[in-house]
Amino acid sequence: MKFLDTFAAAVLVCLFSNASTQNSPKYYQKWSEVEPEHFPGGTYKYSNIETFPDSDAISANLVTLYPGGLREMHWHTATEWAYVLNGTCRATVIESSRDSMAETWDYATGDVWYIRPNEAHVVQGLRDGCTYLAGYSNATFDDKLASSLSSWLSTVTRDVVCDSLGLTPADVTADLASMTHPRMITLGPVPNTSLAEYRVSVSRPPRLLVKNSHRFELALSTPHSATDGGFVQEASKATFPISQDMSGSLLEVDPGGMLQLHWHTTQNEWQFVINGSVQAGVFTGPGQHEESLLGPGDIGCAPISSGHYIRNPTQETAFLILMYDDGEFSSIDLPWVIGNVPPQITASCMDTSVAFAENMHGTGPKVIPYGGTQQFTIQDPV
Ligand SMILES: *[C@@H]1O[C@H](CO)[C@@H](O)[C@H](O)[C@H]1NC(C)=O
Ligand SMILES: *[C@@H]1O[C@H](CO)[C@@H](O)[C@H](O)[C@H]1NC(C)=O
Ligand SMILES: *[C@@H]1O[C@H](CO)[C@@H](O)[C@H](O)[C@H]1NC(C)=O
Ligand SMILES: *[C@@H]1O[C@H](CO)[C@@H](O)[C@H](O)[C@H]1NC(C)=O
Repeated sequence: MKFLDTFAAAVLVCLFSNASTQNSPKYYQKWSEVEPEHFPGGTYKYSNIETFPDSDAISANLVTLYPGGLREMHWHTATEWAYVLNGTCRATVIESSRDSMAETWDYATGDVWYIRPNEAHVVQGLRDGCTYLAGYSNATFDDKLASSLSSWLSTVTRDVVCDSLGLTPADVTADLASMTHPRMITLGPVPNTSLAEYRVSVSRPPRLLVKNSHRFELALSTPHSATDGGFVQEASKATFPISQDMSGSLLEVDPGGMLQLHWHTTQNEWQFVINGSVQAGVFTGPGQHEESLLGPGDIGCAPISSGHYIRNPTQETAFLILMYDDGEFSSIDLPWVIGNVPPQITASCMDTSVAFAENMHGTGPKVIPYGGTQQFTIQDPV
């Protein structure tokens, strides 16, 4: 019966019986307890291999911009995938001066931006400010150390700046002398122009539309998989063509629901709880399983090939952001594995009776509702 329940129960028994010998969690962290750094225009905290050593493919940061707060113009070798958690902000991405391509949008809660390596970008909080979570395809990255306008212009010699931008030494001495770097998050005037006004207010408006937009309205997209247990909305290169190297999803897990046991064939996963609480588990090899309760602002990671799940044991709906270091989703759900071999094979593999193996569901939804897979009639896998 109910393999999943039995499995989960076994896992819990193991966890508790090993409780005294458990090391501190490797794949989960109470990031909510980490204090952010404060800047004039907002706050910043990061998670990378230095603070989260077992996340060896993806780093991330959480940025709050006050109204007018400005994550200064910067660029980096890492790909960036970001989700706006609340508020609104205006972001410009500059692709190429050769082709005269740049793109500005007002990003609302639920929107994603994607920045390819080395594209310049700047983000400003609008009237209500904003908070966003950004993931990077480089585990050692810290956005604070990215190349930026202030760090470049305060480092290069003054006469070079003058020649480049048509300034006089007097301009430079007056205005650049006191500049510190990196400025990181400064405070500017609260934008009072509409997006359309802003777009024409720049002295060199882009001549061409970008080929692929940097913006994707994730929270408004059609769920990939929706059941009474929750849903997954996905931003991958299938629907968001620019995102060749990273993807992500918004996951809702309703009370009692569970994101099915699965693993990924080509991607590492980085998890952030937006609200609610979940029990998350990751299996990395024989006898190696870690499980944790995560609340709002806490994080986890599931390395490529690790078996994992996310379950909601509470009475409150939970939302998570999952980020991946590949533009395409690739996952293998446990029922799909079971469903592709006859019960005799499964029974022999596991040393169980064929009757036991026959009871396992060979298909099922991505997000299992309260009560488990047995509540479901057989359907095509999604
Ligand atoms: C915005 O999201 C952050 C991170 O989830 C949270 O800490 C903060 O309380 C939220 N702010 C508002 C105004 O909802
Ligand atoms: C990853 O980021 C670090 C720190 O910014 C940088 O030194 C390194 O070159 C980056 N790696 C790649 C492959 O871009
Ligand atoms: C808009 O903001 C600019 C820059 O802060 C300011 O100079 C201008 O007076 C503002 N305009 C209005 C209509 O508030
Ligand atoms: C939790 O986050 C989701 C996704 O951002 C949002 O739609 C929902 O309203 C939030 N729920 C609560 C109770 O704040």
